[in-house]
Amino acid sequence: MKTFEPLTFKKMTIANRIGVAPMCTYMCRKKDGVAEDFHLAHYTTFALGQPGFIIQEATAVNENGYISDYDLGIYQPRQREALKHIVESVHSHNVKMGVQLAHAGAKSKRSNVRIVAPSAVDGAEEMTLQDIEKAIFDFEAAAKWARMIGYDFVEVHGAHGYLINQFLSPLTNRRSDEYGEDKHLLLKKIVSVVLKEFDGPVFVRLSGTEYHEEGRTIEDTQETVKLLAKMGVSVINMSSGGVVAANIPLGPKYQVPLATAAKQVCSIPVATAGLITEREQIRSIIDNEEADLVLLGRLALRDPFFILKWKYDENLLSKEDVPNYMYRSLQASK
Ligand SMILES: Cc1cc2nc3c(=O)[nH]c(=O)nc-3n(C[C@H](O)[C@H](O)[C@H](O)COP(=O)(O)O)c2cc1C
Repeated sequence: MKTFEPLTFKKMTIANRIGVAPMCTYMCRKKDGVAEDFHLAHYTTFALGQPGFIIQEATAVNENGYISDYDLGIYQPRQREALKHIVESVHSHNVKMGVQLAHAGAKSKRSNVRIVAPSAVDGAEEMTLQDIEKAIFDFEAAAKWARMIGYDFVEVHGAHGYLINQFLSPLTNRRSDEYGEDKHLLLKKIVSVVLKEFDGPVFVRLSGTEYHEEGRTIEDTQETVKLLAKMGVSVINMSSGGVVAANIPLGPKYQVPLATAAKQVCSIPVATAGLITEREQIRSIIDNEEADLVLLGRLALRDPFFILKWKYDENLLSKEDVPNYMYRSLQASK
């Protein structure tokens, strides 16, 4: 089955086409952005489930970039030390791991920091050119640290209405300078420094549509996808929404058509996510080339061994792939 065939891009080989979606856990209880024992157990559990890859939750590139008080950061030495343990643990189960580099912009709910955005919306301060240069520099530094920590890939968070998405969107970017004239400019500069610093695959997550008549459409996103593929991005991770509150047509596989639209304009792998919960859905998305990679979000949280059980049922799992105790638990399920 193609779902369980390996795939190689930019020298990284993933064992199968199913990944764990980036999901904030809001579990840095000390509010210092440092991973706790919880995070080590959480990501190790995902790794035991044998996904092709794991995308670590949105991880702040600087103090203004956190979504909440309880998110991970990557810009301080103690944060990086804790992240290294997690990556080593995931690697010990032969699973690839990447980090989603994030800046929340106006959507940050962090206490005691400046909340900054392209324009003064939702109570945020408009970023000066110096603020923008610093944000670009912080993504660059984060990419370098991600490489030093040992991540296999990085993902630039350009979706869900966070900083980069705010610059892309006409709904939130009302600047009259070069960053307003070329709404791709911040994304291009960030991706360019990340590609320079990170010697491995770079993913970019995008919101395919904003579900708003004056917002970005899938045709706008297709232009962004073309541009990113040309720059050397390895994977487009296609999501949607988040810039403004909107009526999202939720339903099984609801974001898959957006991924398919991205595939029409590029030849790099495209990932999809969103209410994909059945083996048959995943198999058909991959076999019919609606997307190249499927990400599991909430399903992975409630059933981290979904992929493992599926592989076992298909006789695709050998005893050596998993610890003995785990293999015995699978045998008992037959
Ligand atoms: C608890 C939670 C936290 C999330 N955090 C992130 C995040 O950090 N970065 C991101 O890009 N998406 C985030 N998402 C969105 C997921 O990556 C995924 O796209 C979404 O949950 C839809 O997939 P699902 O239906 O399989 O859960 C989050 C979703 C959930 C449920």
